[in-house]
Amino acid sequence: MTDKPRIILDCDPGIDDAFAIVTASRWAEIIAVTTVSGNVSLDKTTANALRLRSLIGSDFPVHAGAHKPLEVAPLSAGHVHGDCGLGGIDLPYSSESPDSNNAIEFLVEETRKEEGLHLVPIGPLTNIALALQADPDMAKRVSSITFMGGSAGGLGNVTAAAEFNIYADPEAAQVVLQSGSPVSMVGLNLTHQVQVGTKETEICHSIDTPVGSAMAYLLDFYADFYRSHLGTDTGSMHDPCAVLAITHPELFAFEEKYVAVEVNGQHTRGMTLVDERGVGSEFEPNCRVAYNVNAQEAVALIMQAVAEV
Ligand code: BDR
Ligand code: CA
Repeated sequence: MTDKPRIILDCDPGIDDAFAIVTASRWAEIIAVTTVSGNVSLDKTTANALRLRSLIGSDFPVHAGAHKPLEVAPLSAGHVHGDCGLGGIDLPYSSESPDSNNAIEFLVEETRKEEGLHLVPIGPLTNIALALQADPDMAKRVSSITFMGGSAGGLGNVTAAAEFNIYADPEAAQVVLQSGSPVSMVGLNLTHQVQVGTKETEICHSIDTPVGSAMAYLLDFYADFYRSHLGTDTGSMHDPCAVLAITHPELFAFEEKYVAVEVNGQHTRGMTLVDERGVGSEFEPNCRVAYNVNAQEAVALIMQAVAEV
């Protein structure tokens, strides 16, 4: 056993999810990858997790989870990640099947077998919410639920107020935030600090390995999105930030806050409302909110992972 943090990465690969898998492979001990419907449909996110596992030569189990959010129809972000979820990359599909099609049961059972795991959801929170509903005590068995999603300060990307992972399944996010688990939120206010552009694409291109080439391809594809849709020269590397918040917490500044999810608002459904009042608030903090990160170091660690995995 190593002294790296032991994590279950719950994901919807996804370009930045692929970077999160690579980052976690280098800096954490991946106990398993669980997949969820999000950026693309569940069959695609699961297939991509298996493709990425082969690419990096790893052997973590892959368990497929929920094919739709708790109460609403699935949303997709194909315009960001491409129809297949990985920008049409020429990466062989694995002949292997997922280790199970029941990520919910896996989450419940694995956290019973081993207390103190970190759950790192970087897609919609459906799987984690379903596992908490199946066994509310799971909340106390984990060291943290550190999710990428939401935002402090009311910043959205799908809508003016809502970030994709929360907007895709606000009811699930609310279950997680109300679970009593040690929850940390790594939202857009944080991930927008961690930008990648031409320099990082070139670094990946210069890494003469299958992983380097694949990550270079993904960054090239991502660049088309942020240049054409956002009009920017760089894009946010969202999902690896949640991994680094566990593996390199010294790079992050967190504050304990009360966070609620708007599930009803006409304009604000899916928004994470962070109570910034401090003293005088009637609500106890339920979440560690990430506010700042040493972005230069974070990007360097992601690139190092690409080079060394
Ligand atoms: C989040 O949404 C997804 O498209 C990304 O993979 C990331 O998890 C950013 O809003
Ligand atoms: Ca994701």
